[in-house]
Amino acid sequence: MTRLTNKRILLGVTGGIAAYKSAELIRRMQDEGADVRVVMTAAAQEFITPLTLQALSGHPVATTLLDAETESVMGHIELARWADLILIAPASADFIARIAGGQGDDLLTTLCLAADGAMAIAPAMNQAMWRNPATARNVVYIRTKGFLIFGPDEGLQACGEVGPGRLLDIEGLVDAVAGVFPSQALRGRHVVITAGPTREAIDPVRFISNHSSGKQGYALASAARDAEARVTLISGPTQLEAPDRVTRIDVISADDMYHAAIAAIDDCDIFIGVAAVADYKPVLPADQKIKKSDAPSNRSITIELIENSDIIAAVAGHPERPYTVGFAAETQDVVQYARGKLDKKNLDMIVANDVSGSDRGFNSENNQTTVLYRAGIDVREEALPLMSKGNVARRIIELIVEQTGATQMAALSEASS
Ligand code: CTP
Repeated sequence: MTRLTNKRILLGVTGGIAAYKSAELIRRMQDEGADVRVVMTAAAQEFITPLTLQALSGHPVATTLLDAETESVMGHIELARWADLILIAPASADFIARIAGGQGDDLLTTLCLAADGAMAIAPAMNQAMWRNPATARNVVYIRTKGFLIFGPDEGLQACGEVGPGRLLDIEGLVDAVAGVFPSQALRGRHVVITAGPTREAIDPVRFISNHSSGKQGYALASAARDAEARVTLISGPTQLEAPDRVTRIDVISADDMYHAAIAAIDDCDIFIGVAAVADYKPVLPADQKIKKSDAPSNRSITIELIENSDIIAAVAGHPERPYTVGFAAETQDVVQYARGKLDKKNLDMIVANDVSGSDRGFNSENNQTTVLYRAGIDVREEALPLMSKGNVARRIIELIVEQTGATQMAALSEASS
């Protein structure tokens, strides 16, 4: 299942140094299943040729309003209506000003005027141009007219300056485009996700916890919501905002998380345990702050710990168990340990998570994972390359959709035999 299957994207390319990136953008949207047609402004052709984009898109590139040849292939009004999304990337300050002014003085502005479907711009320009009040006003205005605004990013610019105005990176753009077309694969399903760390109180001011940021769990909540699931996110303390249209239940300790998970289980179809649950908690948290002077004379202090309940094992052991997915953060023998947890905790799927490097896992934007899941009596393995936590989340949701669909069909055929 790709994210843009059967989607028709009209890519408008305007004049700017980032125009060369449209070549890669076309390829990536095609990888996701989109049919891409390209329209270029006159200025865009100063930066990249129509021939390149024609070869990549597999369609003639339209460049002028009054071009008899391209009009005969598909007229401009027809082209505007053909598109499920008109994406202008890169969108220059001048182009944004022209659409804000309602102009129709070339093919691309005319298409925007004639379109009645989704439209988006990905601005790319010098940081001073982006900050200019005229540009800011135009962007605010076209947003009220229904344009989606993707980006821009901040950073080093082609002109050597640093600031906001860079074209969003290609993966970010593809994600944003995919977000325009949410799949309905989980419509009617309730997905419960645990995320983040837990905190186990030692005394009123101290606790035991871990480095989990919650990002992967939150990304899964967004991906499940995009697939139209009803999502409950049971979250330990994180710095993250709750994703839109997701019900977040805030918890602190593993015990709190356990109770929230068990309470949600009755109407839960899919349970995903991403939380880094503390395995142990202090047996008796002190009522008052422990003082340094409380340490015995050998200057060491002992805190006795007791095991926390295993939340996901309890969920998977429930008589009405949902499809249950776990995570296994490991620093060595990642897949082997994960396989052990799949069996021991009676899970349907486990995502083995390599947290050994600083560019992946805890607190990073990326994750390197291998997904193990049951398929009949077999356990299948899919190794995913290092990629953004958002992309990991979407792939996991796709696999869950495939597997829960398959599981349901197996159950139906058993019932009818
Ligand atoms: N998990 C849980 N409740 C616990 C401990 C873990 O629900 N008390 C879940 C995690 O959310 C994750 C999976 O179990 O989905 C595996 O967590 P992990 O910490 O890797 O496994 P542990 O069983 O704690 O094993 P170890 O720490 O020894 O690696």
